[in-house]
Amino acid sequence: MSNAFTQFPGLSGKIVLNTGAASGIGLAMAHAFASQGANLMLLDLDAQGLASVKSEFEIAYPGIIVDTFVGSIRDPIAIDDAVQSAVARFGRLDVLLNNAGISMNKPSLEVTPDEWRRTIDIDLSGTFFCCQSAARQMIKNGGGVILATASMWGVASSARRAAYCAAKAGVVSLCKSLAVEWAQHNIRVNAICPGYIQTSLVAELLNRGALDEESLRQRTPLGRLGTPEEIAQTALYLSSDLARFVTGHAMVVDGGWTANGY
Ligand SMILES: NC(=O)c1ccc[n+]([C@@H]2O[C@H](COP(=O)([O-])OP(=O)(O)OC[C@H]3O[C@@H](n4cnc5c(N)ncnc54)[C@H](O)[C@@H]3O)[C@@H](O)[C@H]2O)c1
Repeated sequence: MSNAFTQFPGLSGKIVLNTGAASGIGLAMAHAFASQGANLMLLDLDAQGLASVKSEFEIAYPGIIVDTFVGSIRDPIAIDDAVQSAVARFGRLDVLLNNAGISMNKPSLEVTPDEWRRTIDIDLSGTFFCCQSAARQMIKNGGGVILATASMWGVASSARRAAYCAAKAGVVSLCKSLAVEWAQHNIRVNAICPGYIQTSLVAELLNRGALDEESLRQRTPLGRLGTPEEIAQTALYLSSDLARFVTGHAMVVDGGWTANGY
């Protein structure tokens, strides 16, 4: 996978904190930034997944340093610890990839208070606390880049996804607000809004019949699901010097789904 990514200017040697890095889009982002020569602090709940990613990366990318932090973005103290671990290990923090998240696909009349709060806590509040903790450090460094993996469901809406749509629309709005507030600190903040991407999150929804793959393909103008690497390439561009005038943007990467009014 290391050769599959375009080289982007300004990423070699950067220190990247990547949440939800043990699988799916976050793992593809870890490969993408490693392929640029960035050093990584990978955060996830999944200790075993992180350990195997670390071993794999030490062989695949001998020129970089990869460290891991096991914790939940639901816990602001753990987030601060992860940022401080990155600073202790690498001396600074340049890029935050807010990628950890969960889905919530269920009729709204059946959503429990715990399910509602968990979705908002992880997908929206967790993202905010990561941004806040990282930005405190980035301001000391003289700037940085923050991205959030929102969703096309942050700019469009759908039945059975009220908590997820509300959380991801919140993430899009949060990114725009922080972009305006932190531009003075040379911190750019952007959201990526993926459509349906082939990861375990979507596989779980397909397996339990909450989604139908053929209908997804037919509804998508480009006729297929996206790959995690296609989202990772977008993260590289938005983090790189090529995007130095891009901030407060929500970039949809969905094969045309949200443009399709049909
Ligand atoms: N797959 C898609 O089609 C799709 C589409 C739009 C947006 N997204 C978003 O992309 C992001 C990644 O999704 P994915 O499809 O790669 O899912 P995934 O389930 O494959 O990976 C998510 C990772 O996040 C970790 N994680 C979950 N909760 C966490 C927490 N509280 N703290 C730390 N780590 C946690 C998981 O352990 C897992 O490794 C999510 O924010 C998701 O909402 C995915």
